[in-house]
Amino acid sequence: MSSHSQATPLGSPKPLGVGILGAGPVTQAIHLPSLARLRNILEVRHIMDVDAAVAESVAARVGANHSTSMDALLGDPDVDIVAICSPHQFHADQVIAACRAGKKAVLCEKPFAMSGEEAARISAVSAETGVPIIVGAMHTFDPGWLAAEANWGDLPENVHTIRSSIVLPPNARFEDFATEIITRPAGSTPDYSDIEVIKSALRGGIMGLAIHDLPLVRRFTPDFEDLEVLQARHVRPFGYVISLRCGKHGAGDRIIELRAAMNATWKPEWAFEAISDDAALRVDFTPSYVQAGSAVATITRNATSTTYGPFEHNGYEGEWRELAQLALGTKQPPSAETLINDLTFAIAIADATVDVAAAEHANSHAGARS
Ligand SMILES: NC(=O)c1ccc[n+]([C@@H]2O[C@H](COP(=O)([O-])OP(=O)(O)OC[C@H]3O[C@@H](n4cnc5c(N)ncnc54)[C@H](O)[C@@H]3O)[C@@H](O)[C@H]2O)c1
Repeated sequence: MSSHSQATPLGSPKPLGVGILGAGPVTQAIHLPSLARLRNILEVRHIMDVDAAVAESVAARVGANHSTSMDALLGDPDVDIVAICSPHQFHADQVIAACRAGKKAVLCEKPFAMSGEEAARISAVSAETGVPIIVGAMHTFDPGWLAAEANWGDLPENVHTIRSSIVLPPNARFEDFATEIITRPAGSTPDYSDIEVIKSALRGGIMGLAIHDLPLVRRFTPDFEDLEVLQARHVRPFGYVISLRCGKHGAGDRIIELRAAMNATWKPEWAFEAISDDAALRVDFTPSYVQAGSAVATITRNATSTTYGPFEHNGYEGEWRELAQLALGTKQPPSAETLINDLTFAIAIADATVDVAAAEHANSHAGARS
């Protein structure tokens, strides 16, 4: 057991130790600034990256150990909480290894898996080891969202329209504003006439961007067996317009609209809306990478609006506050079933979206030939 990790109540002089797997832009621009504000409860003790220079220089910023091996980090007794910030294809195996290493809590950046099979493996290990896992879908930890949830009453039962609208500059602009990034892969121009390019852009958009808000959407559509994609379009250079229907046809149908555009557009917007006949919720989140207070939620009912927020911190810091509570056992972890269902929902939308896009592409080419 860690010498630092004896019973450490929230806010005690003995912070919990944090180890981070993957020290790229998200670690540098999102997690380290959040952790810097929580030094009384959390301390970064180990940074691991397969790129030794990145591991060393990022660790030096926070006075932590560094390594290029996951086993070295997981074997470090000073690490109580593990954050997985590597590229998505490594997430499932690293979450499983962190649970098996007997750590106190795990944060996995989204998406925490890419297939139902991976999700089932994680679920089994989580049940077996009892290690709490949370997924870095930061909006679910945002105090503005949580205040809305406490006040939205019967909106989830009566909602008919759910919208997630995201307009953001390309990631690199926010990263540059937020930090000095050490690594960035060179980009290339995709061939948009190739349906495989469109399919992978749509899948990437859903599993990489829409996935932030799909757990929010699912609060309003817990049953999603009857999911149907009505329309799916790729938006250049990176974005999507997807309309879905969820629920039995007729009464009880829910229309879900997912929109995103990542381009040079000003001004950034990240809004979530849920609308019924007599009530409406709108939550305006801060853009990714920005840490400037929480989302602002407005609930309108019978023409009267109430606004919640902004509160002091947003979901990025909220995740870490929750992790500290989970590691100390002062809060119940989210059920693995919720995380699995959130992922299954995202995969179902991604699969149906690429099918619809492929069918539309085939139809338009058949039409052009006839
Ligand atoms: N929550 C958010 O707002 C948000 C925003 C963007 C991305 N993300 C997620 O965060 C994660 C990291 O994103 P990023 O932009 O920093 O990624 P990135 O790919 O740019 O950087 C990841 C880092 O991981 C390192 N790495 C590669 N293989 C590794 C391995 N096997 N083990 C450990 N490290 C390894 C790389 O050297 C790199 O430094 C991704 O899963 C991404 O989906 C979250």
